[in-house]
Amino acid sequence: MAETPTTPRTYRVKSFGCQMNVYDGERMGELLAEQGLSPAADGADADVVVLNTCHIREKAVDRVYSDIGRLRRDDGTTPMIAVAGCVAQAEGEEIMARAPSVKMVVGPQAYHRLPDMLTRADAGERVTDTDMPANTKFDALPARRRSGPTAFLTVQEGCDKFCTYCVVPYTRGAEISRPHADLLVEARRLVEAGAKEITLLGQNVNAWAGENAKGQATGLDGLIRDLAAMPDLLRIRYTTSHPNDMTDGLIAAHGDVEKLMPFLHLPVQSGSDPILRAMNRSHTVESYLRVLDRVRAVRPDIALSGDFIVGFPGESEADFAATLSLIDTVGYAQAFSFKYSSRPGTPAATMADHIAPEVMDERLQRLQAAVNRDQYAFNQASVGRVCDVLVERRGKLPGQWLGKSPWLQSVHIIKDSGEDFAVGDIATVEMVQAGPNSLTGRIVA
Ligand code: SAH
Ligand code: SF4
Ligand code: F3S
Repeated sequence: MAETPTTPRTYRVKSFGCQMNVYDGERMGELLAEQGLSPAADGADADVVVLNTCHIREKAVDRVYSDIGRLRRDDGTTPMIAVAGCVAQAEGEEIMARAPSVKMVVGPQAYHRLPDMLTRADAGERVTDTDMPANTKFDALPARRRSGPTAFLTVQEGCDKFCTYCVVPYTRGAEISRPHADLLVEARRLVEAGAKEITLLGQNVNAWAGENAKGQATGLDGLIRDLAAMPDLLRIRYTTSHPNDMTDGLIAAHGDVEKLMPFLHLPVQSGSDPILRAMNRSHTVESYLRVLDRVRAVRPDIALSGDFIVGFPGESEADFAATLSLIDTVGYAQAFSFKYSSRPGTPAATMADHIAPEVMDERLQRLQAAVNRDQYAFNQASVGRVCDVLVERRGKLPGQWLGKSPWLQSVHIIKDSGEDFAVGDIATVEMVQAGPNSLTGRIVA
């Protein structure tokens, strides 16, 4: 049955969900490119399509099946479809049963075997691989050769925290940290390939632990300090962190590592202690606020971000009001908020007092209004600030460029005179105008 393609086959990887999936998607693309496939042009039909899926909420899962359906061509044929990511891990067998056009199912810890799976699928087999091998996939991935000015680097994977609503510990497996030496090599390759900013990724990135070149045990702060020593790497960020893993060392790094950007994404989920307990978050509102105070003490201008879930089972109006009050107290520069989504197999799914959808809708709207208000206020307070903007791409208008401030705000850069820059440059700008989602900056001489 194997076809012998005459022109190089094309591929497309479509990633959903978190930034770790984006990283994995890039790596799968690199694996396919090594096999001689070339990336499909924007909008063009691809011969091989990888849907790199997210299982976090019910809606994310529904999308997978509608996407598979949408890949059917007018003549009834389909590309070679692989389903990867967290839905593949959780529902691999179901996908194979429900969607005959899917030829490969590959979990997040097995995708280094994609080339081999493709060979078998080309021969007519339908292949599933959702193993979580002990020796990690990272050793089997190709060296990094291309990078834009900003790059992701997965340093930690998996989660041992088992929040009662969350599927991640089941889809990604137990917490593992990649070795320090490997990370320095990959970071160096990214920088050589053009990265100016690296965002360290992990489901609990600040749980990263390793041994440095001198054989000393070190946490994420040690890794950040070693990366900061790379001359051509200008900016370091990390996400997502857990409040309980904000060590003294990591907090201190925010005070004295200049390349560590003044931004902290620290999800809290709820501002009510009884709900946090039911979520098994293992922190309280008070302990969370204490962490923020300590970070602010060493880095007063830090921009804070968080994740919130509204409508967790049993959430009363008073619990929700406590969340709004926490938001008022913190003053987030940005935040992500979600309606609770019941995930089969998680402890919360069988809890009493599920919240009606219309109540969740209403709470989400109120929460988002509060967050939007604070985000706008944070942007407005930036007007007049002079800061460095990392130029990421051209804007829509001629002569316009887009980049990010140290506080992760999107900045439209206006040029008054002859200066020109390239993607990857640092532009020093004065922020002159603020909108709800972005700022405008004018180059200062
Ligand atoms: N490890 C990170 C993020 C995990 S997933 C952390 O602990 O913060 C990203 C976000 O998705 C979570 O922070 C949470 O806000 C949201 N989320 C996870 N499971 C969810 C569910 N069942 N329903 C709604 N939102 C959920
Ligand atoms: Fe999910 Fe909680 Fe782990 Fe975050 S810490 S990935 S929310 S179980
Ligand atoms: Fe989604 Fe898996 Fe990330 S469930 S949020 S893609 S870890």
